[in-house]
Amino acid sequence: MLASCFAVLLTVACLQGTVVARQQGATVIFSNTNRFLFDVDGKQIDAYGAKINYFNGKYYFYGTSWANPSNFGFKFYSSVDLVNWQYENFINATGSGRPHVIYNQATKKYTLWADANTGQLVQTSDSPASGYSSGKYADLDPQYSSLHPADAGVESFGDKGYLVWSALNFADPRQGSIWPLIYQTMHISPLTSDFTNTDTTSYNVTSAAFDLVDQQTESPDLFMRNDTFYVSASNSCAFCSGSIGVLYRSKSIQGPWQRQILSGYSCGGQVEGILPLTDPTTGKVTHVWHSTTNPGGPRVGLNGHIFQPLQFNADGSAKELDCSDGARFRVSFTPGTGDTASGSYTKAVDKAPQFANYRSVCDSDVYYTLHQTWRTSKSGILQSVSVNVAAGGNKNALDIKVFRFTNIQQLLSAGYKYELLGSATFVPSANLTEVFDTATVSVNRAVKKGDMLGFSFGEKNVLGFGLGNYIPYCHLEYDLNAVEQQCDLQQPVLIEQGSGQNSPRGLNGMESPIKVRNGKGMKFHANIV
Ligand SMILES: *[C@@H]1O[C@H](CO)[C@@H](O)[C@H](O)[C@H]1NC(C)=O
Ligand SMILES: *[C@@H]1O[C@H](CO)[C@@H](O)[C@H](O)[C@H]1NC(C)=O
Ligand SMILES: *[C@@H]1O[C@H](CO)[C@@H](O)[C@H](O)[C@H]1NC(C)=O
Ligand SMILES: *[C@@H]1O[C@H](CO)[C@@H](O)[C@H](O)[C@H]1NC(C)=O
Repeated sequence: MLASCFAVLLTVACLQGTVVARQQGATVIFSNTNRFLFDVDGKQIDAYGAKINYFNGKYYFYGTSWANPSNFGFKFYSSVDLVNWQYENFINATGSGRPHVIYNQATKKYTLWADANTGQLVQTSDSPASGYSSGKYADLDPQYSSLHPADAGVESFGDKGYLVWSALNFADPRQGSIWPLIYQTMHISPLTSDFTNTDTTSYNVTSAAFDLVDQQTESPDLFMRNDTFYVSASNSCAFCSGSIGVLYRSKSIQGPWQRQILSGYSCGGQVEGILPLTDPTTGKVTHVWHSTTNPGGPRVGLNGHIFQPLQFNADGSAKELDCSDGARFRVSFTPGTGDTASGSYTKAVDKAPQFANYRSVCDSDVYYTLHQTWRTSKSGILQSVSVNVAAGGNKNALDIKVFRFTNIQQLLSAGYKYELLGSATFVPSANLTEVFDTATVSVNRAVKKGDMLGFSFGEKNVLGFGLGNYIPYCHLEYDLNAVEQQCDLQQPVLIEQGSGQNSPRGLNGMESPIKVRNGKGMKFHANIV
């Protein structure tokens, strides 16, 4: 009975983000709790300032990669169900960010627009996620040529395409010593008929107030609802963990625009854009607002995403966002065509949940070596164990050792020797990135259903000692749910070993120095075939 506990509870946890029905329409549930997104191989979706488009029977998730922040570039993913995302492609566009793609019906070309720091870089392709040409810079309204073209979005309404972009001023005399450091306003420029350039005119997207909020806007997206044009945007913050979310609306693309503040802190994120989802049975379109978010801290590579449908009032304004912790939002949408993507995570039998309240925890170096255990739910060959880990400036390599043991009490006791099944050393610059990619240990050893397995996670040569460089590795932790906690210590257990904790503790001299991190689990998956 215990043996099946881990597998059963994972099924329950995984249902939370799954497509509920797939006949005519499908339903996806977004949750304020489950902010980290992963692809079907278990790697963090590394795409920020993202935009999701529906092209040719698939949803495409486009964003800026933060795996290597000295280079950036774009990462693309695709999905038919908005839950199982397949990694598609990386485009090395050094220094560029916030990719947006627009499709032109007449030329049958996809055009990728991106903020390339010195201008809007435009690349075209015959397909949505690959084959983009090296590109050229778009011509923009010359009246802002002394300003810095920054974030942008592109959208088409029929055969008319538009670029909404911010013009940034790094040298405005009103800037403060502490804040604001920049001023920027948004502008809409009509695109040429092939959507690969602007016509070099523009209209301001500002309200009558023309106040600091209007002059701090970035990360724009454009959509239309019921004959009204909308521009969603964030206040200046460059992927921060909380800024004002604004919504402008107008009956005309040329304005005048009415502005509202949708949220004072965007639920701890920066607005990315709007994903319109159509219920195929009713034709109703839900405009899903989404944002990059990391309530735990500012490092962008450790960000997730948060989604929720905008609720509109009769006057065309939208209600304030619901940032409450447990809020969940069910949205009907048109599923894509073709098979649901699968990969090493979705195929793994023993794994931490796809959706949970994951937090980045950065404490494994001189502070802690961690040991995550679980009981196998299947007999076969344990091919590999993959652990989500983010690096950044680390000097010492990371060691992951996979082992088999008899039970937790034994594992925690003095002198116990586990059976080493496999190990690997990960060198930060060669094997790890600054986002939660997976570090995979090849094992290829036979295991039996019910075996107690585990892995140790810590800096090479400092397992249990304290000779690090003060830069810890980061992993993902979640709270075990009630079902998991009912399972006894034979179930997934996260164990921490503090620096130098290698001798008995306690007044009786009999306590283990190794502690269970109660109620917590680490994100990993194990493939057994
Ligand atoms: C991207 O291109 C830059 C400049 O050519 C190069 O230095 C860098 O190594 C490339 N990055 C990747 C991941 O290919
Ligand atoms: C449009 O925006 C520019 C740049 O911020 C500003 O200088 C100009 O005054 C604005 N025009 C109007 C009509 O608001
Ligand atoms: C669209 O606008 C019309 C006229 O203002 C209004 O009667 C109708 O309810 C609106 N539809 C939606 C979906 O808001
Ligand atoms: C680390 O990267 C090097 C160079 O690409 C590769 O040869 C090695 O197999 C990688 N190590 C692991 C554990 O993946």
